[in-house]
Amino acid sequence: MSITKTALILGATSDIAKELAKELAKQGYHLQLSARDPELLSKVVEKLNVKYPLIRIEGIALDIEEISTHTEFYDSLSPKPDMVICAIGYLGKESLAQTDTNECTQILGVNFTYLVPLLNIIAADFELRKAGVIVGIGSVAGDRGRQSNGHYGAAKAGFHTYLSALRNRLSKSGVTVITVKPGFIKTKMTQGLVCPKALIGNPKQVAKDISRAIIKKQDIIYTPSRWKWVMVIIKRIPEFAFKKLSL
Ligand SMILES: NC(=O)c1ccc[n+]([C@@H]2O[C@H](COP(=O)([O-])OP(=O)(O)OC[C@H]3O[C@@H](n4cnc5c(N)ncnc54)[C@H](OP(=O)(O)O)[C@@H]3O)[C@@H](O)[C@H]2O)c1
Repeated sequence: MSITKTALILGATSDIAKELAKELAKQGYHLQLSARDPELLSKVVEKLNVKYPLIRIEGIALDIEEISTHTEFYDSLSPKPDMVICAIGYLGKESLAQTDTNECTQILGVNFTYLVPLLNIIAADFELRKAGVIVGIGSVAGDRGRQSNGHYGAAKAGFHTYLSALRNRLSKSGVTVITVKPGFIKTKMTQGLVCPKALIGNPKQVAKDISRAIIKKQDIIYTPSRWKWVMVIIKRIPEFAFKKLSL
């Protein structure tokens, strides 16, 4: 295929992002990969370079928490990306977050507040260029607050709302904004957690679903898709009954 577009992946060391990078490289996208750990990142870049020698793949270290560096980071990109995928996320420890201010702000920051300033910079550029695709990876956890991951879910809900507002604003400028809501996916984030087997997805499947959503310019997707129906049920449970459950 002869796409000469460039995709920027934030959180490129994520298990889901690594599969998505392969999927996009196969389609001919050049890749700008960013992550906080330069050593881990260079390993990801090396592997992809070996597998896809015809694709231009570069790694750019970025600590998303350093908000004051976001403008400099985006200014340094050449060419400017046609698409950005935000795969950064931190599940954290819910019980700790309930008493520890650092854990609380870390979960809210990494899943929401640290992401927004950078996405604002990218959104402004795409709006000006009247083109572009922004893919934000949220979570089914953002669809309804549960005691097992309340802080993570609240941050993801905020992220969903931010993406919805971006879509509302940028669709008039020809920019596509896609909200991805994964269910339970087997990655390093969920290591040691338990979930019914039938509901577990894998990063490869998620990457394929995201890739399809980009081609079809979908607004919101659940992945694996069966999670859409799980969440229809969970969202419909009346609050008086929901509060009695231990989810
Ligand atoms: N796995 C699931 O079941 C699931 C379900 C719903 C949504 N999601 C979402 O899917 C996305 C990808 O997650 P994943 O499952 O692939 O998990 P993952 O492998 O743990 O990836 C998480 C990514 O976020 C980065 N990150 C974490 N804390 C950071 C920080 N303080 N600053 C900068 N980057 C940070 C990680 O960098 P390092 O490699 O340096 O740690 C990594 O690149 C996330 O947004 C996650 O919330 C996952």
